[in-house]
Amino acid sequence: MIMQGIEMPRFRTVRGMRDFLPKHAGMMRYVEGLSRELAGLYGYEEVITPIVESYKLLAAKSGEEIKQRMYAFEDLGGRKVALRPEFTASIARLVAGKMRNEPKPLRLFCLGRLYRYDEPQYGRFREFWQANYELIGSDKPEADAEILTLTNNLVERLGLRNYHFRIGHVGILRGILSQENVAEESQNRIMQLLDKKQWDAALIAAKDCNVSERCIGILKRLFKAKGKEPSRVLKRVKEEVREYRSAVAAVENLWDILGLVRDGGVKFEMVIEAGFARGLEYYTGLVFEPYVPELDIALGGGGRYDRLIELFGGEPTAAVGVAQGIDRLILAMKKQGISPRIMEGKRVVIIPISDELKAKAIELSSMLREAKIPAEVEVMGRSVSRALEDADRKGATHTVLVGPEELREDKVVLRDMKKREQRVVEIKNLCEEIE
Ligand code: HAM
Repeated sequence: MIMQGIEMPRFRTVRGMRDFLPKHAGMMRYVEGLSRELAGLYGYEEVITPIVESYKLLAAKSGEEIKQRMYAFEDLGGRKVALRPEFTASIARLVAGKMRNEPKPLRLFCLGRLYRYDEPQYGRFREFWQANYELIGSDKPEADAEILTLTNNLVERLGLRNYHFRIGHVGILRGILSQENVAEESQNRIMQLLDKKQWDAALIAAKDCNVSERCIGILKRLFKAKGKEPSRVLKRVKEEVREYRSAVAAVENLWDILGLVRDGGVKFEMVIEAGFARGLEYYTGLVFEPYVPELDIALGGGGRYDRLIELFGGEPTAAVGVAQGIDRLILAMKKQGISPRIMEGKRVVIIPISDELKAKAIELSSMLREAKIPAEVEVMGRSVSRALEDADRKGATHTVLVGPEELREDKVVLRDMKKREQRVVEIKNLCEEIE
């Protein structure tokens, strides 16, 4: 392309960034709409926080992995800032500050785009979307159960099948490591390795922290302890960790949470894993991720984080939440062949059959929109047959042909594009006829 003598390249999106063409954008908005509706049904109020936040805030407990992948830069005022890689830190900042006096529990919802400089690959993007729900102020198992139930509800409403939740509790491993005097930094490193399923490396890291031989044996067995039947797995784990007081409390807490889910009549498949950890460092209790068999990446992720708000200068405040990955939910829907009929409504194209009738076409389109009927005017000056062909291609439900003869009697031709039938209708009845 040449502009005033300057040759411009043909621009593409920056690596890792995507354009959303209408069909995909429609899917995104559909999932967003369902997530927002669900927020309303559960009483979560929406907040909108900035995309740019202080680097220090975002890095505080995000974990090494995310920290290294942040879009961080200095703004023109010399502040170290970053594009948010998640919502939870911003929410904790709000609750520690502007919302500190709000009565608890607080149920907050946010939705938007986030940034991580990940290596682009299937289901992993540098710009992606989350629908995020945080329940703040309760340390009770019913709060954890609500977050699990809500996540199940969303996945179910999207029509996904055969999904399961990976479920764990970071209090089990942290309880053992703390009693073995492993410093928090080293615990974080071990949890990061577990998040990447590097069990052997995690064991070596634990050995390097001089934990007891007995502890290594227990960790080895815990890393293998997993199953679909919560009571069976948790009984085994509880027996295994019986000498570590806070690990036992963690198992009991998970038992209570899952008991409430079950007794509340919420049914979904779970895989309980004692050695399951998530990359973010702020988790203190339940952790979970939903999966479908067609994708080996998590559709969302969440858990309890009881110390983050305090870390940001707020009152000690318990909290639990989840982020649903909108991009991955859409991938899962595609894999399972789920395509909701997004554009179910009417779509009308108005075609003036000669130049003098263009103004009338505009007038009629305003009349339809006034009645909330989407209307587009033919603006390419095409012949009626070409314009009809194009309306058909776009999936128009009706076309309105504005011709001089009918117009003399205040009428137009209304064509039903599906039935391929047309008839002359009075303009004053046009909206009703389309409805
Ligand atoms: P997370 O596991 O880092 O957790 O992200 C949650 C979800 O966001 C992932 O399961 C995935 O679906 C989506 N996601 C993350 N990174 C990418 C990416 N690069 N491309 C596409 N999708 C991605 C959190 O963000 C926590 N803040 C969740 C939370 C809320 N915990 C408590 N409250």
